[in-house]
Amino acid sequence: MNCSQFATTMRSAFSLHHFNSPRLSRHVSNVSASLQPQGQGTDTPPRIGFLGLGIMGTPMALNLIKAGVDLTVWNRTKSKCDPLISLGAKYKPSPEEVAASCDLTFAMLADPQSAVDVACGKHGVANGIGPGKGYVDVSTVDVDTSKLINGHIKSTGALFLEAPVSGSKKPAEDGQLIFLTAGDRNLYETVAPFLDIMGKSKFYLGDVGNGAAMKLVVNMIMGSMMASFSEGLLLSEKVGLDPKVLVEVISQGAINAPMYSMKGPSMIQSNYPTAFPLKHQQKDLRLALGLAESVSQPIPIAAAANELYKVAKSHGYSDEDFSAVIEALKSKFQHSENQ
Ligand SMILES: NC(=O)c1ccc[n+]([C@@H]2O[C@H](COP(=O)([O-])OP(=O)(O)OC[C@H]3O[C@@H](n4cnc5c(N)ncnc54)[C@H](OP(=O)(O)O)[C@@H]3O)[C@@H](O)[C@H]2O)c1
Repeated sequence: MNCSQFATTMRSAFSLHHFNSPRLSRHVSNVSASLQPQGQGTDTPPRIGFLGLGIMGTPMALNLIKAGVDLTVWNRTKSKCDPLISLGAKYKPSPEEVAASCDLTFAMLADPQSAVDVACGKHGVANGIGPGKGYVDVSTVDVDTSKLINGHIKSTGALFLEAPVSGSKKPAEDGQLIFLTAGDRNLYETVAPFLDIMGKSKFYLGDVGNGAAMKLVVNMIMGSMMASFSEGLLLSEKVGLDPKVLVEVISQGAINAPMYSMKGPSMIQSNYPTAFPLKHQQKDLRLALGLAESVSQPIPIAAAANELYKVAKSHGYSDEDFSAVIEALKSKFQHSENQ
């Protein structure tokens, strides 16, 4: 089956009465046709798989369930599937079995290694997927990893879309993510209603790798912003200013970003409730440095920020929010680093 046949077949079964949610129905009504599992009649609802139920994957999967989607889940640590199973999700014990039993499978995994393991490893997606099916990887990975996964999936006759997200835990809960997609255009059109359930906007960026690159550039900027903000908070305090007032001043000017008002107050209290784990921010800076290296683009600010995140990681802040990077600038660690 070629790409356009896939899209036509998938769309032909995508009808409103499959879904019990007005929200999904609204989205679906914008799709010209419907989604059809291979070999099934037009009355069969599409079966959707979701792999990886961490901070982001869980609320994204939950939003699909709430919208009435027929969802099958898998996670390496099975206990994280249980709350979703209790809400009606099905469970399969491997990515291979999820991909084999579903028409479309999404994956939200930690990093390049886990994304490759789940897609291409033993009992991975590539063993269960095939013609008439699609795989959408929404994890943040580098360009080469995404191309590698694309190659494995495409070799089975299935279609591939990369779709990393901008937005964190709260936007994931609220269905307000921004999808940065690239890859098969027909698959993009087919999965658009599902992306619209989980997100507020989506960009189609062309060839596989462009979504990954866009995501890394965005998170490179974010990582540097947070490092610079951390320096400002500590400097203001050192010179006798109230950092809370600094946050307020920033919030009213041209350099305002929601992130500062959201994270600043807890950073001042040395609290870092995890929305975006610091280890993932450091991973993204590391991958952005690799991206810049591939085109000989200097990114000295991001390189310096990356060092700070590495220090924070080495002091045990990997699983705290990335705003804990401020800890790397505190004198206790500066002294110990210099010893
Ligand atoms: N959190 C955010 O604000 C945010 C925002 C945008 C993008 N992202 C990106 O989205 C992805 C997921 O982020 P997250 O915050 O949800 O991370 P997370 O809470 O750490 O979840 C990571 C997921 O990957 C799974 N995993 C890790 N290693 C694995 C392996 N070797 N094999 C199979 N599964 C493995 C974990 O399974 P277990 O449960 O078994 O550990 C878990 O389901 C990352 O690429 C991150 O950079 C995150």
